Amino acid sequence: MSVVRQQILNKVEVPRASVVDTLRIGAVVLAPAIARGVLARRPKVVALAEKFDADRHAGKLMQRMRARYGSGPLRLAVPGRSLAMVLTPDDVRRVLTGSPEPFAAANLEKRKALEHFQPHGVLISHGADRADRRRFNEEVLDTHHDVHCQGAAIAEKVHQEAAGLLAAVDRTGALDWDAFRIAWWRVIRRVVLGDAARDDSEISDLLTTLRMNANWSFAHPRRDRVRHRFQERLREHLARAEPGSLAELVARAPATERTVPADQVPQWLFAFEPAGMAVFRALAVLAARPSAAGPARDEVAGLDLSAPQDLPYLRACVQESVRLWPTTLAVLRDSTTDTEWEGRMLPAGTGLIIHTPSLQRDEQNLSYADDFAPGAWLDGRAEADWSAIPFSGGPVECPGRNLVLLVTSLFLGALLQEHDFRLVASGRPLTEGAPLPRTLGAFGLRFGVSKVPVKV
Ligand code: HEM
Repeated sequence: MSVVRQQILNKVEVPRASVVDTLRIGAVVLAPAIARGVLARRPKVVALAEKFDADRHAGKLMQRMRARYGSGPLRLAVPGRSLAMVLTPDDVRRVLTGSPEPFAAANLEKRKALEHFQPHGVLISHGADRADRRRFNEEVLDTHHDVHCQGAAIAEKVHQEAAGLLAAVDRTGALDWDAFRIAWWRVIRRVVLGDAARDDSEISDLLTTLRMNANWSFAHPRRDRVRHRFQERLREHLARAEPGSLAELVARAPATERTVPADQVPQWLFAFEPAGMAVFRALAVLAARPSAAGPARDEVAGLDLSAPQDLPYLRACVQESVRLWPTTLAVLRDSTTDTEWEGRMLPAGTGLIIHTPSLQRDEQNLSYADDFAPGAWLDGRAEADWSAIPFSGGPVECPGRNLVLLVTSLFLGALLQEHDFRLVASGRPLTEGAPLPRTLGAFGLRFGVSKVPVKV
């Protein structure tokens, strides 16, 4: 045994929550996140969480735990599995920049959940497999460029689908989640799989079923029939390698025997859906707050949005939406070695839980916790702050970040360019000047919409 390891083992372990506090954290922080559906949201539970302001209670409890036990990590008194809550931005930075070693992204609970539909996905891969699959993902998603290499084709698809949605909205004067979701999924399928997949709602429904099952992680048996049907349809779409779609790049990007390209694609499809929720919530804030909507309209005034455009304010609005209402409720890691925290030891194999709804609204660390502050993404404050990690951070950071911000900002811009949105239904008020609710379901948002006369 190495001297360093012996030194760590001789030290006391990091603090462990009492059984009562563990039960509190389970009931107030973890259960509401799991019940809402970590991989696919359950509308009725989301409405309940909204009604009871679940994320505000969770945030307060996490602050109390930090005051009681210190900066952490805080181990939970759970039999049979070592689990710890990460409590401070400094520790978030350490865990995320220390991934995948010694903090592996391929965490046990995540593996059990995602194995339902992407057993070789990068998010649950480790070692050489991870390195290879991450390279492949970055290449197809064009991770390091603000505008994706297929930006022109993407902008055209987004613009057409937004126009189709607006044409329907012009007839009814209203927009709700159901109508938005249909248009959004068309965008997703066209961008990822190609225009020929536009109306293949079956593949989206199959994936939703698999995600719903995966919500239960260990507890749900795998549905092989659904999985096979999904994979079959996915293979058909990928085989076309349609020009202007990610499928084209999947066919072109170098792959090794480790890559398993088709197993990387479900993550892209399923991660795009909550991005639609982020757009819908951003739209709700802009509809309720004229001071935030003004700069958005100014940014897109007179622009040709069927071509890729640099829309920093709208990108910031979407990032702010996912900070305020994170689509990834917990970022998870498993430690691969014993680790030391201010002289205390956390054993190898501990599952580390970063609960994003409380972290990203922690007013003890973030001055703009409950405000809508797109400016924080424009002036670099949010980027530098490990309390604001909607796309995670470090080597495992979301490789689809730039792509999804391109698609969402173009879509939001197209909606706002010639239309005025009024929020007519929301589970919680979003009034200007008041703290924003910590929980906000997309399902319950409804807008009245009117066309703005274009000045000639
Ligand atoms: C609003 C939309 C999105 C948000 C908020 C988001 C956020 C995240 C987060 C928090 C992670 C987890 C990273 C970790 O465990 O540290 C992640 C991983 C990932 N995301 Fe996204 N994501 C979004 C959309 C997308 C899209 C549209 C794609 C692809 C087209 C994508 C591709 C991925 C991939 C491949 C990973 C796994 C990365 C790895 O394991 O190395 N994401 N994303």
